[in-house]
Amino acid sequence: MRVRILKDEGAVARSVASQVAALIAERPDAVLGLPTGRTPIGLYAELRERHAAGEIDFSRVRTFNLDEFLGLPSNHPASYRTFMDTHLFRHVNLPRRYIHFLNGMAADAAAECRRYEAAIRKVGGLDLLILGIGANGHIGFNEPTRSVKANTHRAKLAAGTRRSNADLFGGRASDVPREALSMGVGTILRSRQIVLIATGAGKSAAIRATVDGPITSRVPASFLQLHGNVELVLDSAAAGGRRR
Ligand code: GLP
Repeated sequence: MRVRILKDEGAVARSVASQVAALIAERPDAVLGLPTGRTPIGLYAELRERHAAGEIDFSRVRTFNLDEFLGLPSNHPASYRTFMDTHLFRHVNLPRRYIHFLNGMAADAAAECRRYEAAIRKVGGLDLLILGIGANGHIGFNEPTRSVKANTHRAKLAAGTRRSNADLFGGRASDVPREALSMGVGTILRSRQIVLIATGAGKSAAIRATVDGPITSRVPASFLQLHGNVELVLDSAAAGGRRR
């Protein structure tokens, strides 16, 4: 696993935005996997600015988000789709038909998960998947449990994950859905390239376990050790105080 430690979260955002820009310049129809959460907000701001400056053309890019809450319509203020509209999609020239999202309102969740896997396959797989990480080592909504799921699936949220998503719901963790749809660990590992971003001391234990710990379903991010092209881009706090 390659690990890059940068000064602060601004440097992480700028560096990963440059990687995304370079990929799109080289492959204008790149397929991106995208995360939500506080961590990528700076990255999305950078991408918006670079698009406004004429530096990134999203007109042929395809995107697949990692996960979505179960039971929320896409236009719900707390949905991950709304988050993406607010922070990125509304501001760039990404055609709506190229934006792929799990539908949290699907009547048949299993069929919706199969549809998503098929849609990813149909475009030839993900070129670059950007990931955040939960303080408990989750990726997407693959929470620490006795086993991991390979493919896109219906997932139960850990209590701590519901608390850390409470901001989207006016601070009320009890309003955060108990379940979500999420890419599986296999879906994630099939991406040709993975960049995991983490900032702040709250992530340092999860990062340590991801990099140095055993591969275990108790730390879903540890499965990234099995991937041949994964990079962790961290600020020094998430790296446990280590400097670059
Ligand atoms: C959320 C998302 C993850 C995200 C993680 C970290 O629950 N499902 O995809 O990476 O938690 O979020 P944050 O960046 O806000 O710490």
